[in-house]
Amino acid sequence: RQGKPLVVAIDGPSGSGKSSVSKAVAKRLGLAFLDTGAMYRAVAWHCLNGRINLENAAAVEGAARTIGLEQSLTPDGEYIKVNGINVTGPIRTPEVTAAVSAVATNLGARAELVRRQQDIIAKSGARIVVEGRDITTVVAPHAEARLILTASEEARLRRRGLQLGGAQTDAQLRELVLARDARDSTVVEFHQAADGVFTVDSSELDFAETVSAVLTVVRRAVNEG
Ligand code: DC
Repeated sequence: RQGKPLVVAIDGPSGSGKSSVSKAVAKRLGLAFLDTGAMYRAVAWHCLNGRINLENAAAVEGAARTIGLEQSLTPDGEYIKVNGINVTGPIRTPEVTAAVSAVATNLGARAELVRRQQDIIAKSGARIVVEGRDITTVVAPHAEARLILTASEEARLRRRGLQLGGAQTDAQLRELVLARDARDSTVVEFHQAADGVFTVDSSELDFAETVSAVLTVVRRAVNEG
Protein backbone atom coordinates (compact mmCIF):
# COMPACT_ATOMS: atom_id res chain seq x y z
CA ARG A 1 0.00 0.00 0.00
CA GLN A 2 3.08 2.15 0.06
CA GLY A 3 4.13 4.52 -2.66
CA LYS A 4 2.75 6.76 -5.37
CA PRO A 5 -0.51 5.79 -7.05
CA LEU A 6 0.06 3.32 -9.87
CA VAL A 7 -3.09 1.96 -11.42
CA VAL A 8 -2.42 -0.24 -14.46
CA ALA A 9 -5.57 -0.74 -16.55
CA ILE A 10 -5.52 -3.66 -18.98
CA ASP A 11 -8.34 -4.53 -21.40
CA GLY A 12 -8.54 -7.05 -24.19
CA PRO A 13 -10.49 -9.91 -25.77
CA SER A 14 -10.58 -13.43 -24.37
CA GLY A 15 -7.58 -15.58 -25.17
CA SER A 16 -5.27 -12.57 -25.37
CA GLY A 17 -3.36 -13.82 -22.32
CA LYS A 18 -4.66 -10.85 -20.32
CA SER A 19 -5.17 -12.64 -17.05
CA SER A 20 -1.83 -14.44 -16.69
CA VAL A 21 0.11 -11.49 -18.10
CA SER A 22 -1.66 -9.04 -15.75
CA LYS A 23 -0.84 -11.21 -12.73
CA ALA A 24 2.83 -11.43 -13.70
CA VAL A 25 2.96 -7.65 -14.19
CA ALA A 26 1.38 -7.08 -10.76
CA LYS A 27 3.96 -9.38 -9.18
CA ARG A 28 6.85 -7.65 -10.90
CA LEU A 29 5.63 -4.19 -9.84
CA GLY A 30 4.57 -5.21 -6.33
CA LEU A 31 0.96 -4.19 -6.99
CA ALA A 32 -2.39 -5.65 -6.03
CA PHE A 33 -4.39 -7.44 -8.75
CA LEU A 34 -8.07 -7.38 -9.65
CA ASP A 35 -9.67 -9.78 -12.16
CA THR A 36 -12.95 -8.00 -12.99
CA GLY A 37 -14.13 -10.80 -15.29
CA ALA A 38 -14.33 -13.03 -12.20
CA MET A 39 -16.96 -10.65 -10.78
CA TYR A 40 -19.16 -10.92 -13.91
CA ARG A 41 -18.69 -14.69 -13.81
CA ALA A 42 -19.58 -14.81 -10.10
CA VAL A 43 -22.88 -13.00 -10.74
CA ALA A 44 -23.64 -15.42 -13.61
CA TRP A 45 -22.83 -18.39 -11.36
CA HIS A 46 -25.10 -16.98 -8.65
CA CYS A 47 -27.99 -16.61 -11.13
CA LEU A 48 -27.58 -20.18 -12.40
CA ASN A 49 -27.22 -21.53 -8.87
CA GLY A 50 -30.18 -19.57 -7.49
CA ARG A 51 -32.42 -20.15 -10.52
CA ILE A 52 -32.52 -16.46 -11.28
CA ASN A 53 -33.72 -16.08 -14.85
CA LEU A 54 -30.83 -14.69 -16.88
CA GLU A 55 -33.30 -13.30 -19.42
CA ASN A 56 -34.91 -11.14 -16.75
CA ALA A 57 -32.77 -7.98 -16.84
CA ALA A 58 -34.18 -6.55 -13.61
CA ALA A 59 -33.52 -9.81 -11.77
CA VAL A 60 -29.93 -9.96 -13.05
CA GLU A 61 -29.36 -6.36 -12.03
CA GLY A 62 -30.84 -7.13 -8.61
CA ALA A 63 -28.49 -10.08 -8.25
CA ALA A 64 -25.49 -7.86 -9.02
CA ARG A 65 -26.63 -5.33 -6.45
CA THR A 66 -27.23 -7.76 -3.60
CA ILE A 67 -24.58 -10.42 -4.15
CA GLY A 68 -21.90 -10.72 -1.46
CA LEU A 69 -18.55 -10.85 -3.26
CA GLU A 70 -15.21 -11.47 -1.64
CA GLN A 71 -12.13 -11.97 -3.77
CA SER A 72 -8.36 -12.12 -3.54
CA LEU A 73 -6.59 -8.91 -4.46
CA THR A 74 -3.14 -10.36 -4.89
CA PRO A 75 -1.58 -11.94 -7.97
CA ASP A 76 -1.05 -15.20 -6.05
CA GLY A 77 -3.70 -17.68 -4.93
CA GLU A 78 -6.63 -16.18 -6.77
CA TYR A 79 -10.06 -16.96 -5.27
CA ILE A 80 -13.57 -15.53 -5.30
CA LYS A 81 -16.47 -16.22 -2.94
CA VAL A 82 -20.19 -15.64 -3.45
CA ASN A 83 -22.02 -15.14 -0.17
CA GLY A 84 -19.25 -17.10 1.53
CA ILE A 85 -19.14 -19.97 -1.00
CA ASN A 86 -15.82 -20.46 -2.78
CA VAL A 87 -16.66 -20.45 -6.51
CA THR A 88 -13.14 -20.03 -7.91
CA GLY A 89 -13.41 -23.26 -9.92
CA PRO A 90 -17.16 -23.22 -10.72
CA ILE A 91 -17.04 -19.77 -12.39
CA ARG A 92 -14.75 -21.20 -15.11
CA THR A 93 -17.13 -23.94 -16.31
CA PRO A 94 -18.52 -23.81 -19.88
CA GLU A 95 -22.03 -23.30 -18.39
CA VAL A 96 -20.99 -20.10 -16.62
CA THR A 97 -18.92 -18.97 -19.60
CA ALA A 98 -21.98 -19.42 -21.83
CA ALA A 99 -24.21 -17.50 -19.39
CA VAL A 100 -21.92 -14.60 -18.49
CA SER A 101 -22.83 -12.34 -21.44
CA ALA A 102 -26.29 -11.91 -19.90
CA VAL A 103 -24.55 -10.16 -17.01
CA ALA A 104 -21.94 -8.35 -19.15
CA THR A 105 -24.61 -6.85 -21.44
CA ASN A 106 -26.85 -5.76 -18.54
CA LEU A 107 -26.16 -2.05 -18.07
CA GLY A 108 -27.57 -1.92 -14.53
CA ALA A 109 -25.38 -4.85 -13.47
CA ARG A 110 -22.38 -3.21 -15.14
CA ALA A 111 -22.93 0.07 -13.27
CA GLU A 112 -23.02 -1.80 -9.97
CA LEU A 113 -19.87 -3.86 -10.71
CA VAL A 114 -18.01 -0.77 -11.97
CA ARG A 115 -18.86 0.98 -8.70
CA ARG A 116 -17.53 -1.97 -6.69
CA GLN A 117 -14.36 -2.10 -8.80
CA GLN A 118 -13.68 1.60 -8.30
CA ASP A 119 -14.14 1.07 -4.58
CA ILE A 120 -11.60 -1.78 -4.60
CA ILE A 121 -9.10 0.41 -6.49
CA ALA A 122 -9.49 3.18 -3.91
CA LYS A 123 -9.06 0.73 -1.03
CA SER A 124 -5.86 -0.64 -2.62
CA GLY A 125 -4.35 2.81 -2.22
CA ALA A 126 -4.50 3.09 -6.03
CA ARG A 127 -1.65 0.60 -6.42
CA ILE A 128 -3.19 -2.16 -8.48
CA VAL A 129 -3.33 -3.90 -11.85
CA VAL A 130 -6.94 -4.18 -13.02
CA GLU A 131 -7.89 -6.31 -16.00
CA GLY A 132 -11.14 -6.59 -17.92
CA ARG A 133 -12.97 -5.08 -20.89
CA ASP A 134 -13.85 -1.55 -19.80
CA ILE A 135 -11.05 -0.70 -17.38
CA THR A 136 -9.19 1.73 -19.68
CA THR A 137 -12.40 3.53 -20.62
CA VAL A 138 -14.96 3.31 -17.80
CA VAL A 139 -13.55 1.87 -14.57
CA ALA A 140 -10.20 3.68 -14.50
CA PRO A 141 -9.97 6.20 -17.35
CA HIS A 142 -7.46 8.20 -15.29
CA ALA A 143 -5.16 5.25 -14.56
CA GLU A 144 -1.43 6.03 -14.68
CA ALA A 145 -1.00 3.34 -17.37
CA ARG A 146 -3.69 2.05 -19.73
CA LEU A 147 -3.27 -0.59 -22.37
CA ILE A 148 -5.07 -3.04 -24.56
CA LEU A 149 -3.61 -6.49 -24.88
CA THR A 150 -4.63 -8.08 -28.16
CA ALA A 151 -3.73 -11.08 -30.26
CA SER A 152 -4.85 -12.36 -33.65
CA GLU A 153 -8.02 -14.46 -33.77
CA GLU A 154 -5.89 -17.49 -34.59
CA ALA A 155 -3.60 -16.99 -31.59
CA ARG A 156 -6.55 -16.45 -29.24
CA LEU A 157 -8.34 -19.61 -30.39
CA ARG A 158 -5.13 -21.63 -30.08
CA ARG A 159 -4.38 -20.39 -26.54
CA ARG A 160 -7.91 -20.86 -25.21
CA GLY A 161 -7.94 -24.35 -26.77
CA LEU A 162 -4.73 -25.25 -24.94
CA GLN A 163 -6.06 -23.78 -21.69
CA LEU A 164 -9.18 -25.94 -21.95
CA GLY A 165 -7.11 -29.07 -22.55
CA GLY A 166 -7.98 -29.43 -26.23
CA ALA A 167 -11.30 -31.15 -25.48
CA GLN A 168 -13.36 -28.62 -27.48
CA THR A 169 -14.30 -28.92 -31.13
CA ASP A 170 -13.41 -25.98 -33.38
CA ALA A 171 -17.04 -24.87 -33.39
CA GLN A 172 -17.28 -24.98 -29.58
CA LEU A 173 -14.06 -23.03 -29.25
CA ARG A 174 -15.24 -20.38 -31.70
CA GLU A 175 -18.46 -20.05 -29.69
CA LEU A 176 -16.58 -19.76 -26.37
CA VAL A 177 -14.07 -17.22 -27.62
CA LEU A 178 -15.37 -15.29 -30.63
CA ALA A 179 -19.15 -15.33 -30.23
CA ARG A 180 -18.91 -14.27 -26.59
CA ASP A 181 -16.56 -11.41 -27.46
CA ALA A 182 -18.93 -10.36 -30.23
CA ARG A 183 -21.86 -10.26 -27.78
CA ASP A 184 -19.87 -8.38 -25.16
CA SER A 185 -18.57 -5.92 -27.78
CA THR A 186 -22.09 -4.58 -28.17
CA VAL A 187 -21.75 -2.83 -24.79
CA VAL A 188 -17.99 -2.33 -24.34
CA GLU A 189 -15.21 -1.54 -26.77
CA PHE A 190 -12.08 -3.57 -26.02
CA HIS A 191 -10.55 -4.15 -29.45
CA GLN A 192 -9.74 -0.55 -30.30
CA ALA A 193 -7.57 1.52 -27.99
CA ALA A 194 -9.12 4.79 -26.78
CA ASP A 195 -7.09 8.01 -26.85
CA GLY A 196 -3.96 7.72 -24.72
CA VAL A 197 -4.26 3.94 -24.47
CA PHE A 198 -1.31 1.81 -25.63
CA THR A 199 -1.70 -1.46 -27.54
CA VAL A 200 0.39 -4.59 -27.08
CA ASP A 201 -0.15 -7.32 -29.69
CA SER A 202 0.99 -10.67 -28.29
CA SER A 203 0.35 -12.79 -31.42
CA GLU A 204 4.05 -13.25 -32.10
CA LEU A 205 5.29 -13.02 -28.50
CA ASP A 206 5.74 -15.73 -25.89
CA PHE A 207 4.62 -15.20 -22.30
CA ALA A 208 7.86 -13.65 -20.99
CA GLU A 209 8.11 -11.35 -24.03
CA THR A 210 4.52 -10.21 -23.54
CA VAL A 211 5.12 -9.43 -19.87
CA SER A 212 8.19 -7.38 -20.69
CA ALA A 213 6.37 -5.55 -23.51
CA VAL A 214 3.64 -4.60 -21.03
CA LEU A 215 6.20 -3.49 -18.43
CA THR A 216 7.84 -1.29 -21.09
CA VAL A 217 4.48 0.30 -21.89
CA VAL A 218 3.79 0.91 -18.20
CA ARG A 219 7.15 2.67 -17.79
CA ARG A 220 6.52 4.77 -20.90
CA ALA A 221 3.02 5.72 -19.81
CA VAL A 222 4.22 6.70 -16.35
CA ASN A 223 7.06 8.81 -17.81
CA GLU A 224 4.80 10.50 -20.36
CA GLY A 225 1.99 11.08 -17.86
O1 DC B 1 -12.22 -12.15 -18.87
P1 DC B 1 -13.33 -13.16 -18.62
O2 DC B 1 -13.50 -14.13 -19.74
O3 DC B 1 -13.19 -13.85 -17.30
O4 DC B 1 -14.66 -12.28 -18.55
C1 DC B 1 -15.90 -12.85 -18.27
C2 DC B 1 -17.02 -12.06 -18.93
O5 DC B 1 -17.22 -10.81 -18.29
C3 DC B 1 -16.80 -11.77 -20.40
O6 DC B 1 -17.89 -12.30 -21.12
C4 DC B 1 -16.74 -10.28 -20.53
C5 DC B 1 -17.25 -9.75 -19.24
N1 DC B 1 -16.46 -8.64 -18.70
C6 DC B 1 -16.91 -7.37 -18.94
O7 DC B 1 -17.90 -7.18 -19.64
N2 DC B 1 -16.25 -6.31 -18.40
C7 DC B 1 -15.14 -6.51 -17.66
N3 DC B 1 -14.51 -5.46 -17.12
C8 DC B 1 -14.67 -7.82 -17.42
C9 DC B 1 -15.35 -8.87 -17.98
